[in-house]
Order: sequence, then structure tokens, then C-alpha cells
Amino acid sequence: MSAIAILGCMWGDEAKAKIVDYLGDRADYVVRFQGGSNAGHTIVLEGQKYVFHSVPSGILYPKTKCLIGPGVVIDPLDLVQEIQDLEACGLNFAKRLIIDEKVGIVLPLHQTLDDNNEAQLKAAKIGTTRRGIGPAYADMTARSGIRLGDLAHPAYLKQRLRELYLYHGLSSHKDAIQHDYAQLREAWKSLQQYTASVENILHEARISGANILFEGAQGSLLDRIWGSYPYVTSSNTIVDAIGIGSGFSARLLDEVLGVFKAYATRVGEGPFPTQIEGPLADKIRQQGHEFGATTGRPRRIGHFDAVMAAYTARLNTLDGIALTLLDVLSGIEELKVCVGYKYKSRVLTTPLAHPLELSKVEPLYLDLQGWDADLSKVRSLDTLPHNARIYLEAIEDLLKLPIKIVSVGRERNQTFKTSFE
Ligand code: IMO
Ligand code: MG
Repeated sequence: MSAIAILGCMWGDEAKAKIVDYLGDRADYVVRFQGGSNAGHTIVLEGQKYVFHSVPSGILYPKTKCLIGPGVVIDPLDLVQEIQDLEACGLNFAKRLIIDEKVGIVLPLHQTLDDNNEAQLKAAKIGTTRRGIGPAYADMTARSGIRLGDLAHPAYLKQRLRELYLYHGLSSHKDAIQHDYAQLREAWKSLQQYTASVENILHEARISGANILFEGAQGSLLDRIWGSYPYVTSSNTIVDAIGIGSGFSARLLDEVLGVFKAYATRVGEGPFPTQIEGPLADKIRQQGHEFGATTGRPRRIGHFDAVMAAYTARLNTLDGIALTLLDVLSGIEELKVCVGYKYKSRVLTTPLAHPLELSKVEPLYLDLQGWDADLSKVRSLDTLPHNARIYLEAIEDLLKLPIKIVSVGRERNQTFKTSFE
């Protein structure tokens, strides 16, 4: 058996799903363990584009089982819709999707709270995906949240809903409570067939020697503790979240693969030391289709930041790197990799935790020569242009990790292994 974690190691959108899909042909299980429909995981297969929000990316392989662990939060109606839309594309979910009964539920109330928070915040607006993720996790932590398993117990569900509204000072909103109740009971008709214990299944999978891929959502720099707080998401996203969010201890992983883009992006607010603007950023945004898969927002663009990357590499105990979207850098004359931050005349090689301080650092760059050649047909390291190889070597040297997988385009076959076994 092998258990492999595939983790976004920057601010999300690292093309994690592409790597899950690339390695997915031999996976018996693909597991989501945190986050919710704030994720937008895109796979292009023979020209057809699929975007997954809550469904694990392994669903494209007809025999792979897709598990949603209890560390995830789901909006039941959205999930039913996502399943129906994918079924309409010919995908089959029966006996293949398993959702833990302990997953937290995102309600319309959470989306309203998310919207209201965003509208009210001035100094530290987050720029969330407005999917209600933060308020839903807050309710789970406060023990006022609803779990998927509650949907099976009508009287209990109604009582939990009343008490949730009471907790938010909204006990008079009787119509909303009734509406949520009816909708959740309706969603349950579709979802009950998928509900089971993910921990049990992963335990059996381990005993039988199955291959398991853990699909991270968001990225390490959006981790609610280790990321650039408060401009983060509301779940933990680093490797240790796997045990918490699926019941499969991170101790049991055979390999932890960190996914990085060949450059950096960020969507939403918050410090981004290597951010660039102007024609170069526009060019990368266009070439890389850097618009949010969940919200459509244009993503902020920056140079590769080896200070942040080295930090997340060690937080996640990475064994190797999957470097994506290398093709996007073709035609850029001069490339830069951030190797340190200057702050108050000191040179730092680790990020600062406070947003006011991090937003003031001046990045120090290593300058590298670019390349012109189109990379979309490259399938091996030795056929990459010389300067692209130097670029990869610089990243390997700075992170002290091998780049094991490289991706040069959106299609499944535009990815190759350099050293991944
Ligand atoms: P995938 O899995 C990029 C960002 C939002 C915002 C912050 C908090 O596709 O990489 P939230 O809605 O989670 O409360 O928003 O986190 N964010 C993401 N950015 N990719 C994602 O997911 C993201 N999920 C959340 O833009 O800055
Ligand atoms: Mg995204």
C-alpha cells in the first residue's frame, strides 16, 4: 500500500487536483480531509473541464472511491447539485462517494454571516469565497454546528437548528429554521446513501494494502494557525490536518508531496511579499488562466517565493515537490526567485507572523534568465530548455528538496515525473 499526501503549499490554487488526477490512476481512494466548497479544483480531460468544489478529484477514475472526511464542511444542497451536474457529464457516484456522518454542515445562515462580516470589515477584510466556510467552522468549534448524521434524526435536527439560531441571537427566525429543516431533510434523501465512517474505511483500506491519496484543499499559507492570519481560511491545511480530518494518522503517510506553482498567486486580501503588478503580472494571469475557479476573481500574481516555500516545506515535512504551470513562464525574459526578506535593515529567511510586519518586508531576489520555447510538449527534464532546468535547480537548491513531478499544461498528459516512484 501507499498513502500519499498532495498538499498545496502556498495560498491555494497550486493545481493540486491536476497532481491528484495525474497520480490517481493507481489510487483506490482519494480523500478530502479539510475545507469545503471554497475549494475550486479544476481538471481538464480531453478538452472537457471539470471543476470540483466538495467532491474529491478522484471521481474521474471509474473505480476510485472518493471519501469526504469529517474535517470537511459541506453545504448539502450544493453538494447534491454538484453530484447531479457531474452525473450529467457521465460520472458515476454509486458506492464510490463516501461522506463521513461527522462532517459539519454549512447553512444559508453561514453564508449570510460570511457576507455580513465581509461587508463590515474595514481594516482586515479577508476577501473570502463567501461560501460560509468561516462561520460554519466557528459553529463546529462552538459545538453549536449541525453534522451530516443529524439529518437522519428529524426531531433532533429541528432542536439543533433551533438552538443554533438561538446561539446566533436569531431564535425569532422561525421561517428560516423551518426552511433549513425542510431543505436538509430533502438533501438527506440524496445523501444518506453515501454516508458512512471514513475512519473505518481507511482503516480497512490500510489493512488490505490499498493505495490512498489525500487531496489537500487551499494551501499551507491559508492554514488558520500557520498561514498569514487573519487572511486565512478557517481550517488547518498542513499535513497534520490529515489525521484530524480523516482519522488516518499523518504518521502513516509514505510520502508528502508539496504542490507549488512555478510562480506565486494569491486571491483575496493579505500580505503577498513578491506580488507584481503591470504588464508582467497581466501576461502571467492571462497565460496561466489565473482567475478564481470558485469566485472568478482575478488572482494576484507574484514571483516564486522561496522564503515562504521553505517555511511550508518544513511545516509539512515534504518529501518532494510537484511544480505546476511551468509552461506559463515561457517568453518571460528575466525571472526572479525570492531568497530573503529585508526588514528594518535585517535579512530574514523565514516569514514574519504579523501582517503589519510581513506587508513591509522587501523581497531580495535571485535573478535568472528566462526561455522562449513552448513547453507544452515537453515530457522529460532533459528536453526542457537549459534555462528552465536552471530555474528548477535553483528551486531545488533553495528548498533542499527534489522536484519529482513537473506539469507544463492543463491536460492530464501534460505532466511528467522526474524522480517520483
Ligand atoms: P483551492 O482548494 C485559493 C482564500 C480566500 C480568502 C481566504 C478565506 O482551490 O486551492 P474562505 O472562503 O476560505 O473563508 O476564504 O482563503 N481561499 C482560497 N484561495 N484557493 C482556494 O482553494 C481557497 N479557499 C479559500 O480567497 O483569501
Ligand atoms: Mg481555488
